[in-house]
Amino acid sequence: MAASLESLRKVRDGGPPLATLTAYDYPSARLLDEAGVDLILVGDSLGMVVLGYEDTTHVTLAEMRHHTRAARRGVKRAVLVGDLPYKTYETPKQAVESARQLLDDGADAVKLEGGREVEPQVRALIDDGIPIIGHLGMLPQRIQEEGRYRKKGKSEDEAARLLDDAQLLDKLGVKAMVLESMFRRVAREITEAVSIPTIGIGAGNGCDGQILVTHDLIGAFPWFCPPFAIPKANVAESISRAVSAYVEDVRTSHD
Ligand code: KIV
Repeated sequence: MAASLESLRKVRDGGPPLATLTAYDYPSARLLDEAGVDLILVGDSLGMVVLGYEDTTHVTLAEMRHHTRAARRGVKRAVLVGDLPYKTYETPKQAVESARQLLDDGADAVKLEGGREVEPQVRALIDDGIPIIGHLGMLPQRIQEEGRYRKKGKSEDEAARLLDDAQLLDKLGVKAMVLESMFRRVAREITEAVSIPTIGIGAGNGCDGQILVTHDLIGAFPWFCPPFAIPKANVAESISRAVSAYVEDVRTSHD
């Protein structure tokens, strides 16, 4: 049976924690869906792990649309979420136009980064009936302003701002929120303070669920893996081994 965004709320009534992952193409989305993942995010992390960009700020809406359509073909059951990429939700009008395109491509909801600073965009999306997943904490689309990836919520002020943002998103009507790279006590406090599911990444186990970039989970991007991701496979090594064996076969089997 297809999961609905509303079904994510079951975790709040004692249901199991949400197991969620990223996928950017048909076979991975289908494998994840068939393995029982609750929510599949076509994340703009595809900029790094699929397209080879330095960070997510280079990802375009056209690229997100292309990958959302591919993932949609593989997903029958899980909730499918598409990321609004950098600079595609600068104004409420632009946010609605961009989000509508991802929904046309098959996303069940869109995710956007930020709290109070994107309140007008969140209001416009919700007024337009577009389901939203929030994203607070370390925001990869801010890398150029901030200069480095830093865990959030260390100071009391920063923790209070995060809590305030989370309560605002909840009040505005977002369906769930990702809490990325923040001190676990802050993620736990937010989870206790809001009515919607929280999905953590590098934010401890006090959230309602977890998300990982699938490449980090399966060891498919050997050049970088964040410290909080514990790979459960080494796909990069399997590929290298298979390719080396093939190269060897071809070179030794020709007359
Ligand atoms: O783009 C992405 O994959 C994400 C997850 C890390 C939450 O936003």
